[in-house]
Amino acid sequence: MPDIISEVARRRTFAIVSHPDAGKTTLTEKLLYFSGTIQAAGTVKGKKGGKFATSDWMDIEKQRGISVASSVMQFDYRDHVVNLLDTPGHQDFSEDTYRVLTAVDSALMVIDAAKGVEAQTIKLLNVCRMRHTPIITFMNKYDREVRDSLELLDEVESVLEIRCAPITWPVGMGKTFRGVYHILKDEVIIFTPGKGPLDEVEIIKGIDNPRLDELFPLEIDQTRMELELVRGASHPFVLDEFLDGTLTPVFFGSAINNFGIREILNALVDWAPQPSDSAAIQRAVSPTEEKFSAFVFKIQANMDPKHRDRIAFLRVCSGEFTRGMKFKHLRLNRDIAANSVVTFMAQGREQVEEAYAGDIIGLPNHGNIQIGDSFSEGELLSFTGIPYFAPEMFRIVRIKNPLKIKQLQKGLQQLGEEGAVQVFKPLNGGDLILGAVGVLQFEVVASRLLNEYGVEAMFESTTIYTARWVSCDDAKKIADFEKNLTNNLARDAANSLAYLATSRVNLDLTMERWPELRFHATREHA
Ligand code: G4P
Repeated sequence: MPDIISEVARRRTFAIVSHPDAGKTTLTEKLLYFSGTIQAAGTVKGKKGGKFATSDWMDIEKQRGISVASSVMQFDYRDHVVNLLDTPGHQDFSEDTYRVLTAVDSALMVIDAAKGVEAQTIKLLNVCRMRHTPIITFMNKYDREVRDSLELLDEVESVLEIRCAPITWPVGMGKTFRGVYHILKDEVIIFTPGKGPLDEVEIIKGIDNPRLDELFPLEIDQTRMELELVRGASHPFVLDEFLDGTLTPVFFGSAINNFGIREILNALVDWAPQPSDSAAIQRAVSPTEEKFSAFVFKIQANMDPKHRDRIAFLRVCSGEFTRGMKFKHLRLNRDIAANSVVTFMAQGREQVEEAYAGDIIGLPNHGNIQIGDSFSEGELLSFTGIPYFAPEMFRIVRIKNPLKIKQLQKGLQQLGEEGAVQVFKPLNGGDLILGAVGVLQFEVVASRLLNEYGVEAMFESTTIYTARWVSCDDAKKIADFEKNLTNNLARDAANSLAYLATSRVNLDLTMERWPELRFHATREHA
């Protein structure tokens, strides 16, 4: 029997956080390429009519060319098992994107160095910061004219509130990109585009090596000057500070040119943490405990429309999962014979033989599993920390055929519990309101209401700007609040009270007027 301690020690589970177009897809491919998982880039993902475009995803996903087959990829690197979880971006940005971050132990932040810190990166980093997730940073696209590197670090520090510790530093950029200087190793790695994982890379030892002045005198002079400033302005790499999420090691390179990839893989293996304890209401669960446990962080519907199945994505928290074992779905107190459990190897869906803490397994089901559900071999555990995020987009739901109101309510109840969208029931009895963080969530809901519940729903815009969950220790104050602001209040699928604000100013004023109440931008799964 494999030793659980060493299996856990060699696991690394991470996600890439970035703004669309920064290079996440490209980098994912290159990580697989450099780990030896695929033979050439361009064979795994093709978001524009690529290899997976003909497989059987739900219609919307097909139309938009969104890949679900690549939601989780497992690959080996230097005797480690690496799980890379996809954070859907572009139009398919949704609450799932956020929740994926609750299932990782570290994150790789990719920044387009020509653009700097962008909106989606800020949102995702907020979630990482909440959880103290260690972040590795990759400044991409140095083969192009990009922004000043020091300025980029400064922006990361001030906007994302995380200290930067550059590990490499670029020599030149764009047409005169010459390579990177590895600060810790005191060597320059020479840039040659398109080198594969097995090709030799030219390395010149020592920043003052005269060979560098022969090769590219202008750029190396500039780099030496910048390094003086870097030493004064940035922070040295301290592993503990990285692990508590307050400092990020920064690497520079060009994903499309295979440059800087190996350094990232090595940082993941050498520095990023192995799975640690998972918090449950009852107790903390150690990854090396013998008994299996896991929780659901994401549900993907209709991966195969013929079977109308759903896949619940479980992060293993402890113990060993083996094919055919029995475990318990704790909320329903039901045994699960896990014969059909799947994992997501880089090449597609495969049957899992065994899995350990940090691994992700997929459990096909027909809608009885919800986000946040816990599984174990019998012990009652309720894993915590799966947040719901305040929606930023709202729609009122109406139906074409009023006789279908029951089906609509049932459908929305289930979709709400599953976490596909948030459903708010106004206290004044008005129409149901849907809330989402990404616009595609509404389309998914419309399509699923039609296909699974036979309801043709229409969505109308609202004047709601954002929602805040409200809590207070004083029940009387809450009752007062409910009475005074009935028209702005609603209950979500979990019956939690939410204030629906019509503007930022409205929210601020309400918070000022009700200082005893707490207004939360996230709600933890109950
Ligand atoms: P995403 O998943 O984060 O959205 O980004 P993706 O990898 O698709 O990259 C976005 C664009 O940036 C792509 O170009 C990609 O080729 C380019 N890119 C990625 N890494 C680098 C890099 O190191 N240097 C340069 N110069 N470009 C890079 P595109 O034209 O939008 O798509 P495509 O038609 O080339 O696929």
